Amino acid sequence: MNEEALLKAGALGAVQAGQCGSSAHFVTTILHQFAESLGFAIDAKDQSTRMHSDEVARISQVLALTMGLSGTEGQIIHVAGHLHDIGKIGVPDAVLGKCGTLTPAEWKAMRRHPQAGADILRPVAALSNLGVVDMVLFHHERYDGAGYPHGLKGLAIPLGARIIALGDTLSAMLQDRPYRKARTFDAAHDEIIRCSCSQFDPRVVEAFRESAGKLESLVENGAGKTLAA
Ligand SMILES: [Fe+2]
Ligand SMILES: [Fe+2]
Repeated sequence: MNEEALLKAGALGAVQAGQCGSSAHFVTTILHQFAESLGFAIDAKDQSTRMHSDEVARISQVLALTMGLSGTEGQIIHVAGHLHDIGKIGVPDAVLGKCGTLTPAEWKAMRRHPQAGADILRPVAALSNLGVVDMVLFHHERYDGAGYPHGLKGLAIPLGARIIALGDTLSAMLQDRPYRKARTFDAAHDEIIRCSCSQFDPRVVEAFRESAGKLESLVENGAGKTLAA
């Protein structure tokens, strides 16, 4: 992340005012604390997704770094991971916790959460200018264009959103849901490889393949804040 982007995000204003030690400090402390807190809030609302937002944040950061993105870009994607499902705050609890198949109306309510999340976060200039709002808005797009809310395809989907899409799916597959049991890491691994070029960007899948061992221990241990690494 260059200085111009951080200036637009308002980070350097804080630095110049002596409130932070550096621009990276702004992302790793103020913005991260804010995102982590909101992520915990949405995970608390949905009992089936314990620590899901935190896990998505850490998985996505590992994928970003494996792809060669900068440390700061990885940290920004980590922040977006915490916030990716914040729009579910507007989805009724009965829909979030439903065991059976969603009705068309319930599915419509569920599919509104990326746009709702972007609308919630957009007033925070730093999140808009660092690309976090768009990562949240597009985290359910698919590489083949069959996702939502806009049906964006391939590289038209912001890279951070393509990364979070895989991190989100991996974390979700490894957790029990009201409508299905958790998969093993090996089963989730095979499913992600199978969905390369359809659901996922093949470059992100390649990073997943490369970092699979690290990710498996990350989700098993559940500890360690990748952000500061
Ligand atoms: Fe975090
Ligand atoms: Fe989501």
